[in-house]
Amino acid sequence: MHLNRREFLAMNNPLRRLHLRFVEFSIFKQFMHRYQINLQDKTLLDAACGSGYSLKLHTQALQPKMQLGFDIMPEQAKLARRQGGDFHYCLADITRLPLASQSFDAAFAYGILHHVENWRAGIAELQRVIKPAGFLFIEEPNGAAVKFFGKYAGFAFPKTERFDWPEFEVEMRQAGFVKLASHQIYCDALQAYLFTK
Ligand SMILES: C[S@@+](CC[C@H](N)C(=O)[O-])C[C@H]1O[C@@H](n2cnc3c(N)ncnc32)[C@H](O)[C@@H]1O
Repeated sequence: MHLNRREFLAMNNPLRRLHLRFVEFSIFKQFMHRYQINLQDKTLLDAACGSGYSLKLHTQALQPKMQLGFDIMPEQAKLARRQGGDFHYCLADITRLPLASQSFDAAFAYGILHHVENWRAGIAELQRVIKPAGFLFIEEPNGAAVKFFGKYAGFAFPKTERFDWPEFEVEMRQAGFVKLASHQIYCDALQAYLFTK
């Protein structure tokens, strides 16, 4: 679902970019280092890449062969196109991706599932488009954090049930992902994961 005005502003400012660079992406780089994952010359997907700042980070740090970002909001697409980097961008819904199966070596997903009513379908689509033995780097808030942001920050989320980490891990396993690593952020309000398939 689309971000409301408050969250759109919260997602598109220098603080958010600092957090993406020095917290989430930094943890993902630690995962890559630990598992000796080299994404140079690989095909990357950035699910719900918002303003495209993460696309830029990946291009600079990972030097992929091809990178595609998608998001459901035209307003985000407008910002992403302004980034003007070496990547592709399209408007798409994570639950119905217009992408071939097994076409990406790795996918990144920063804070998307809690915005998706049928988030299980989103997980299934990521599983479908990642190549066998490919990787998923995903970061999410848990149910309590989503509730907190809804109540105190005025963000809007779909009214579906929200997961805590044990439930999330069961869903991922059932979708065919194998957990390699996880890292808690702010106790366990947010969590970053590395999965393979
Ligand atoms: C919390 S923002 C995160 C944006 C960006 N990844 C970041 O970390 O700054 C969530 C993003 O998910 C997008 N989104 C929500 N529902 C979506 C869906 N069904 N399919 C694709 N993108 C979606 C929103 O437009 C928004 O850009």
